[in-house]
Amino acid sequence: MAKHVLITGASSGIGKQLSIDYASQGWHVYACGQNLDRLEALGMVSERITPLAFDVCNLESVTAAMASLTEMPELIILNAGTCEYIEHGKVDVALFRRIYEVNIFGVLNCIEALQPRFSDKTHLVLIGSSASYLPLPRAEAYGSSKAALAYIANTLAIDLERDGVTVSLVSPGFVKTPLTDKNDFAMPMLVSPEFASEQIMQGINEKKKEIHFPKKFSLFLKTLSLLPIGLQLAAVKRMTGKTS
Ligand SMILES: NC(=O)c1ccc[n+]([C@@H]2O[C@H](COP(=O)([O-])OP(=O)(O)OC[C@H]3O[C@@H](n4cnc5c(N)ncnc54)[C@H](OP(=O)(O)O)[C@@H]3O)[C@@H](O)[C@H]2O)c1
Repeated sequence: MAKHVLITGASSGIGKQLSIDYASQGWHVYACGQNLDRLEALGMVSERITPLAFDVCNLESVTAAMASLTEMPELIILNAGTCEYIEHGKVDVALFRRIYEVNIFGVLNCIEALQPRFSDKTHLVLIGSSASYLPLPRAEAYGSSKAALAYIANTLAIDLERDGVTVSLVSPGFVKTPLTDKNDFAMPMLVSPEFASEQIMQGINEKKKEIHFPKKFSLFLKTLSLLPIGLQLAAVKRMTGKTS
């Protein structure tokens, strides 16, 4: 019998590529997003892709969508996310809320709705970001949302272990998608969605707790994150050309 994977944020970028790649490997894919036209176009790529449109921020819609699944997916990739930057350190609570609603509560809504059907075969994968490794200028909202997600993934990995549930955290560097096409700054070591999907699938296959790529970039940021905070801030200012 075909294995089932549920992927949120499948209507574009990384999630779309993952949907295509899992379907081509014989998996049945529940491809979730909000934009039904784009999801239906994705459904045309393979008969193994089932589009599922709902807003991850709406718990009622999420619960109804999850209840409609004919098969409980053994692999759940919670990838839907959004990014906005703040300007000149000016805190904009509405912006923070928009980011946290999708990146944190959207993920938690999906977990809560699916958790009663988890089994010892369940592999839960959360898509964080390498932005959470270091304090990056203008990323107060996005970076903190992904830092929270990393904490949630790592604590769930401990707490769900006794039930046989595997939890993985994915921390990509820059990937060329509609999300990063909006960026107005240089993105070092930008990789393609195809490369991202390959790295994520390989890590999931190996049941890695943490999947990060491209390695040169992520290991560099990880190393910087070991420095005292003063040195981290100086390094980030230098790298981003942010001088006070
Ligand atoms: N691209 C990068 O460099 C990069 C780096 C690190 C981490 N990430 C993370 O990777 C994930 C995918 O990003 P991407 O670059 O592939 O971005 P993307 O192309 O903009 O895709 C984002 C996806 O999330 C979905 N989504 C957003 N809000 C939603 C909502 N309220 N309800 C349901 N679905 C929603 C979108 O669906 P609709 O368009 O249909 O609403 C879309 O399918 C995100 O979590 C992002 O933070 C990306």
